[in-house]
Amino acid sequence: MIVAIDGPAGSGKSTVAKAIAKRCGLTLLDTGAMYRSCALLGVQAGLDVYDPANADAIVAIARAAEISFEQRDEGQGVFANRQDVTAQIRTPEIDIAVSPVSAIAGVREAMVAQQRAIAENCNVVAEGRDIGTVVFPNADVKVFLTADPQARALRRAVQRAGGDAAKDKDATADQASIDEILADIKRRDEYDSTREVAPLKPAEDAVHIDSSMLSIDEVVEKILSLDEGLKALDAQNGPLDATSGIEGPAKPSGRARPAKAERNAGKEERTLERMRPFARNSFDDYYDHPMSDYPLFAKAFYAFVIIVVGVVTKLLWPWSVEGVDKLADKGKGRMIVMNHVSALDPIPVVISCWMRGISVRPIFKSEFNLNTLTTWFFSRVGGIPVNRGTADMKAVRRAKAALERGENILIFPEGTRIKSDDEPAKIHGGFALMAQLAKAPVVPVAIVGARDLRPKGAFIPRLFKRVYIKAGDAISFDSLNIKGKKQQVRAMEELAMKKVAELRDHLRAKYPGKM
Ligand code: DC
Repeated sequence: MIVAIDGPAGSGKSTVAKAIAKRCGLTLLDTGAMYRSCALLGVQAGLDVYDPANADAIVAIARAAEISFEQRDEGQGVFANRQDVTAQIRTPEIDIAVSPVSAIAGVREAMVAQQRAIAENCNVVAEGRDIGTVVFPNADVKVFLTADPQARALRRAVQRAGGDAAKDKDATADQASIDEILADIKRRDEYDSTREVAPLKPAEDAVHIDSSMLSIDEVVEKILSLDEGLKALDAQNGPLDATSGIEGPAKPSGRARPAKAERNAGKEERTLERMRPFARNSFDDYYDHPMSDYPLFAKAFYAFVIIVVGVVTKLLWPWSVEGVDKLADKGKGRMIVMNHVSALDPIPVVISCWMRGISVRPIFKSEFNLNTLTTWFFSRVGGIPVNRGTADMKAVRRAKAALERGENILIFPEGTRIKSDDEPAKIHGGFALMAQLAKAPVVPVAIVGARDLRPKGAFIPRLFKRVYIKAGDAISFDSLNIKGKKQQVRAMEELAMKKVAELRDHLRAKYPGKM
């Protein structure tokens, strides 16, 4: 879902966008703040931003600029290259300097790329001048918000004096200040609408709203009424309190996450207490929280385990994973289903994903939680326990939440290691349900060469045996077309295991003798 709100300075875009972000759980993207940050960085670098000869230097600054946002109780904080620039970008000096900077094509290219990257995986409400025309021409909702210059100047003047015209309809400001702002608004309108690159103009399919005579709430209601999806998000996020439509934090922005994960993670965070960095966390905390939230010590322990186990297993049983890219696509949680032949099986997958910055949550049978020590260990390595033989909805919910926030789930539906092909493999269902609930892709993975590492009766495993792992393409279940949820999930499980077996057979054919 992308909501684009364009319009001139002071038309109420920012306040309206904030309110919509809050009500519908969207990420707020204030593109004006990004151009303001570029202008500030240029000024700080000692450049005369009005001199066209400096354009290349300013473009270089914009390309290298890391701009991010932070939600605060009092509004949105803006960071440029880790420097808090929230206040500095709103000074009269930057009000003026931003015009020439935002007219430089290279600066716009760099900012548009950042804006699209932010919106890639989450729902956004973006406000600016060129959102509906250039940045997101396919936005779901496009609004062009205007107001007569007098009304806009008054709002800004009240804002500068520390008031809020959106809340107080009778608010007034010093006439000299209004006049000064009016002159600046007219100048900027002229500049923004006549510049060559991405001038301020409504998209052909934008809905025009004149906010001169409307309250902020009325504008917001009008916009919400434009789109069914937006209405549904609003309903889902719950009713408004008296002021929440006007101010307050929206969803965290500047992070790329799946839209659904964003919303659900938000809900999850509201009910979850933060993990304590120094005091004890429960095992449930480890199962419920994203691994990126683990306390530093737990993360360091995990990294240590990964490195030691990685080096040792690579030396003793040189392993390689073909098609890792199919498992490690940032922002998208994948359900990885794999055949199970030895204790080594999860290691290559977990390590390969970790090296690419992706968390993997292995599902393990709760019988492995033999005592506090093993429970401690499995919780620290991101495991999620499942009670087999029961409909363990807690495990399903945990896996679903992990997938939705972009973590991979690794599962061995065969449950126990398969020691010979004659053994009938009983499939433990559940993974298809988890994937279906989270709308996550299911990726088959097969391993060969690990079954004969410790032959029956042998105490010491055989060393220096090569092990091969291969990831397949995400499985399309479109062709199944089966009625009934239960039957459908069952058919998904069977198809997924068939794909795993095909991959395994392919590896066996490629590396004869490997089981
Ligand atoms: O919305 P604002 O007043 O904070 O924007 C500051 C300046 O940035 C404005 O004068 C025009 C420019 N801008 C732009 O060119 N394109 C955008 N999408 C947003 C802002």
